[in-house]
Amino acid sequence: MNARPIGFFDSGVGGTSVWKEVVDLLPHENTIYLADSANAPFGRRTKKQIIDLCVKNTEFLLKQDCKLIAVPCNTATTNAIGYLRSNYDVPFIGIEPAIKPAALQSDTKKVGILATKGTLSSELFISTHKQFTKDVNTIEIVGTGIVELIEAGKTDSQEMRDLLIEITEPFMISGIDYLVLGCSHYPYIKDQLQELLPNRVRIIDSGAAVARQTLSVLKSQDLLNPNDVPGKHSLYSNMDATVLKSFVGDVSNTTIKFLEF
Ligand code: SIN
Repeated sequence: MNARPIGFFDSGVGGTSVWKEVVDLLPHENTIYLADSANAPFGRRTKKQIIDLCVKNTEFLLKQDCKLIAVPCNTATTNAIGYLRSNYDVPFIGIEPAIKPAALQSDTKKVGILATKGTLSSELFISTHKQFTKDVNTIEIVGTGIVELIEAGKTDSQEMRDLLIEITEPFMISGIDYLVLGCSHYPYIKDQLQELLPNRVRIIDSGAAVARQTLSVLKSQDLLNPNDVPGKHSLYSNMDATVLKSFVGDVSNTTIKFLEF
């Protein structure tokens, strides 16, 4: 049993979609969230650069005495989670595109995957893909430009709508019935994607699965917070904290600040 905070780091504001799932499921846990927006998007960086950023963020969170670190960024997980697990003692919860449930549930056996270049080219993604998509045709698209617009506070803009029309075109003509969101930022454009795609297309992300996995690891390692009061949350951005604030919304006991890290 343990009142130390759960740490999160992400390449920016996108991981708050996962952070909210964790806070909803574990309301007594304290959390610290780092939005490394100054270095977003991780997805166009080399593996070495991604690992270096993940190390820097991990060390910051460990200095704040975090008992577990969640990595909602798909690019960071698929490129660096193995390195982090072998070099630090704290448990890490990663996130991966939900290819398995989509492949199992697809009727058309055509599944779209929208992710960053860094995720789609990672060894972890390639091996997961190989394992679960034997009888499924996948259409993989790099969401170039989406993260940049979200980080700039332009999620709901004409620029985003124009970009999404272009990006979703291959999905429109391919007959997919599932679209997997493989980036922590993309849940924030889910409604816009759903409007553009045919009604039959189900869009799935991995946020709830990360929350369930966090609960399971805390339980199994006896790390759950025994205090029966609402958790406190400190969120930091190394860019514009007002953008981070707009994504966090109305969660109580929350402080959001600019911090250079
Ligand atoms: C990125 O940093 O490129 C996007 C975040 C993600 O891959 O989940």
